[in-house]
Amino acid sequence: MTPLPLATVEHALRRLFLGDAQGLRDEDRKKARELAALLPHLAPVDRGVVVDAAAGRAGVGLLAVELLGLRELVVIERAADRVAHCRDACAKLSVPAKVDVREADVGDARAWPTRPELVVALHACGPATDAVIDAAVRSEARRVMLVPCCLGSQISFAAQARAIVASWPIPRQAPIRQRMEHGLIDAWRTLRLEAAGYEVTVLPFVAPTVTPYNLVWRCRRVREPGAMARAQTKLDAILSLPA
Ligand SMILES: C[S@@+](CC[C@H](N)C(=O)[O-])C[C@H]1O[C@@H](n2cnc3c(N)ncnc32)[C@H](O)[C@@H]1O
Repeated sequence: MTPLPLATVEHALRRLFLGDAQGLRDEDRKKARELAALLPHLAPVDRGVVVDAAAGRAGVGLLAVELLGLRELVVIERAADRVAHCRDACAKLSVPAKVDVREADVGDARAWPTRPELVVALHACGPATDAVIDAAVRSEARRVMLVPCCLGSQISFAAQARAIVASWPIPRQAPIRQRMEHGLIDAWRTLRLEAAGYEVTVLPFVAPTVTPYNLVWRCRRVREPGAMARAQTKLDAILSLPA
């Protein structure tokens, strides 16, 4: 997929979030590269509601308004300072759009609209990605775009994944075990989505030098009964692996 021109994305980021006079910091340049690569995956977004979940200042959602023609955005973010930053940026949008910024936990069902066209969560920390998966399934989102990031012990499957890997005849070196644990968590998430009726593609969207968390889960709700049943069987098998 062809990325958006980096200069266009950097310009929009600076205008919305930093003010024209301010230069981009290293973290903004990195975010610009992620967004330039990720935003084309979101298209088309010109009809229906898009949810930017665990949104931070909502760089994904607001740039989709500016650059992709998104007209209706719901932002869900729990940190008050980021919500305030996002609201400031909304006032600087150069194209008309309905933007509803909700200060809430992504696990709070009341914060979610029903049947959004797309749910996107870029780098939702640890268990927030799982709360987004549950909410997207519950709200019957037509498409879901996830870029998970850090994996930690708060993820509900993490302890079981660790125990499963510990029970396998593999070397003791921690980085090898950790990769396998992370692979199991990725598999668990993918199967949950498939069992809920999503057709899932997983692919790198930027080089790992931009971010080590460079995989995007692109999901489309198709509700194919055979595929759902097969995924559920695999999910049950993973969940009952001896630990
Ligand atoms: C790493 S930042 C990513 C922000 C943004 N999506 C981006 O890529 O620029 C993760 C964000 O998720 C928010 N977050 C984490 N857990 C959350 C939860 N349970 N509910 C709502 N927001 C959450 C954090 O406050 C933070 O703003």
